[in-house]
Amino acid sequence: MLEQTVQIISNERDTDAYFRLVLRAPQIAPLVQPGQFAHVRVTPLKDALLRRPFSIFQVGGDTFSILYKTVGKGTEAMARMRAGKELNVIAPLGHGFTVPRPGGETPLLVAGGYGMAAMYLLAQRSPQKGIVFVGGRRRVDILCEREFAALGWDVRVTTEDGSRGEKGLVTQPLLAELKRGASGKKLYACGPTGMLKAVGKIAGEFDVPAELSMDEHMCCGVGVCLTCVIPMKAGGGWEYQRTCTEGPVFDSRRVLWETAK
Ligand SMILES: Cc1cc2nc3c(=O)[nH]c(=O)nc-3n(C[C@H](O)[C@H](O)[C@H](O)COP(=O)(O)OP(=O)(O)OC[C@H]3O[C@@H](n4cnc5c(N)ncnc54)[C@H](O)[C@@H]3O)c2cc1C
Ligand code: FES
Repeated sequence: MLEQTVQIISNERDTDAYFRLVLRAPQIAPLVQPGQFAHVRVTPLKDALLRRPFSIFQVGGDTFSILYKTVGKGTEAMARMRAGKELNVIAPLGHGFTVPRPGGETPLLVAGGYGMAAMYLLAQRSPQKGIVFVGGRRRVDILCEREFAALGWDVRVTTEDGSRGEKGLVTQPLLAELKRGASGKKLYACGPTGMLKAVGKIAGEFDVPAELSMDEHMCCGVGVCLTCVIPMKAGGGWEYQRTCTEGPVFDSRRVLWETAK
């Protein structure tokens, strides 16, 4: 983990409210593992000390990138930043996904909206190709479909309004796939909490392992403030764990949904 001021190489709109930010960070880029995140200080904000967490989307040479959706004042300020400006980041942070082993379980990736961003490095570094289930409300929420296909993955798209792919929720084609045969498969998911909960339930029903990237509000990002804790099963009881350090990726069997915030 390093704290560095890095230069913006590009910051371009992808679709609708989504942007891709590429940062030159030669010391950080080689350290990144799939599912880890960067904590970004959005310099133009008055309260710039409050950082924003973003999954590390892609790594290339001495750069890494973030795929983000503008949802509030931090991300809107980020979207206005131009190439050549600098940003302070702490990265890579968190405990990421377990990269599949050669000859191991077939990976089934499940992503909702910007959850795709956490999945790309996993797909790229996995020696086993599998299926990526991508879901969103509308076609503009379907990100990186071609990039996953270019990695040789089978991409299955769903939208809630039916404007792209199958109409419905991303868990529908996942369920259909597992009904065809669940043995030897492993799920990896990132997206809204409702989707993660559904994926965790499906994993339990089919008795397949699942790793979920839990997207909680964060403050310090480095394990000090306890803003990001969620309840996890531990021994015969439960305990709070920090999504910024023990997570954001957790084994679905350990997540205690009943008491989750
Ligand atoms: C580990 C992790 C990885 C993330 N990766 C990505 C990513 O790859 N791309 C991306 O676009 N976003 C990602 N996020 C969410 C991102 O951090 C928030 O969208 C961002 O902090 C919002 O900042 P803001 O100032 O624009 O919004 P604010 O003004 O702070 O909030 C605007 C709205 O966004 C909601 N919001 C704020 N933070 C979160 C959050 N953590 N989760 C869900 N809703 C939130 C608020 O409740 C509010 O409704 C990630 C979050 C975490 C914890
Ligand atoms: S965000 Fe501070 S402990 Fe996790």
